Amino acid sequence: MSLDDRSREYREYIETYLRDFYAQFYGEPQKILFEAMEYSLLAGGKRLRPIMAFEFCRMCGAGWKQAAPFAAAVEMIHTYSLIHDDLPCMDNDDFRRGRPTNHKVYGEGMAVLAGDALLTDAFLMASTAKLPKEGDMADAIGLLAECAGSLGMVGGQVLDILSGERELSEQEVLDIQSRKTGRLINAACALGAIAGGASEAQFNAACQFAAGVGLAFQIRDDMLDVIGTREEMGKGVGTDAAKNTFVRLYGLEKCEKLVEQYTQYAIDALDAFEDREYMVSLAKSLTGRRV
Ligand code: IPE
Ligand code: IPE
Ligand code: MG
Ligand code: MG
Ligand code: MG
Repeated sequence: MSLDDRSREYREYIETYLRDFYAQFYGEPQKILFEAMEYSLLAGGKRLRPIMAFEFCRMCGAGWKQAAPFAAAVEMIHTYSLIHDDLPCMDNDDFRRGRPTNHKVYGEGMAVLAGDALLTDAFLMASTAKLPKEGDMADAIGLLAECAGSLGMVGGQVLDILSGERELSEQEVLDIQSRKTGRLINAACALGAIAGGASEAQFNAACQFAAGVGLAFQIRDDMLDVIGTREEMGKGVGTDAAKNTFVRLYGLEKCEKLVEQYTQYAIDALDAFEDREYMVSLAKSLTGRRV
């Protein structure tokens, strides 16, 4: 199966899975909340985190659909992080996933609540997973919470806000980015591995892959804020110019080299898996992404 075909299969499956989950709640009176959540959740997006969860599950030798509750949970948390990231009190962006941002359509109050609900429902979603190894659920839920919360993505967003326009050291920028973007990618890969019944070596390899890809992904995101277009990206560009981005720290040319280096570090981790061709191609395809 080609890279594109497999990606499409994973993407279509997660779209339906997320849609079906919320279809259960259509009779509820807080209809507007579900509308706001689905507005952002089902607006497209590359679905990279679910794809990685599915693929690590498969590479560990299990049926990939087994990772669906974890894949969906990470995508729900990621979507909530985008809704909140776009708020006027944060990045103040008005365009996301090819549409006006959530608060532009539903108002700030509902956008905050849609984010809150997506985060909380993500744990409901994750709790429905059927895992091959008894006792893994507590570890998986703990890992998801750690990656999303004060030590992970939220912690990274806080450091990002606090840094303001102050000049940061390389170490500080790496720390912020590996939390704000890297940790949810870490959750996707690690939970996919757990759903697949990973050995310790496979689990560690999934985490190393995530660390490399997470950094490469955010460096490329910062580059695209400069060289990308609003049409391709489906979100505003040039909006982070005054912020502590990798481009500001290193300049575009060095960023391009770093994306290659961190991607290679990620790919090296895949030696722990026999059937790694798709994941290698996926990681490579992200280095030159325009979306
Ligand atoms: C955007 O993530 C925010 C970052 C963490 C850099 P994605 O580029 O994965 O956004 P979607 O999911 O495709 O919209
Ligand atoms: C945000 O990073 C990462 C999140 C935790 C949402 P950015 O602020 O660079 O993401 P974009 O560029 O708005 O997607
Ligand atoms: Mg931001
Ligand atoms: Mg932003
Ligand atoms: Mg950005």
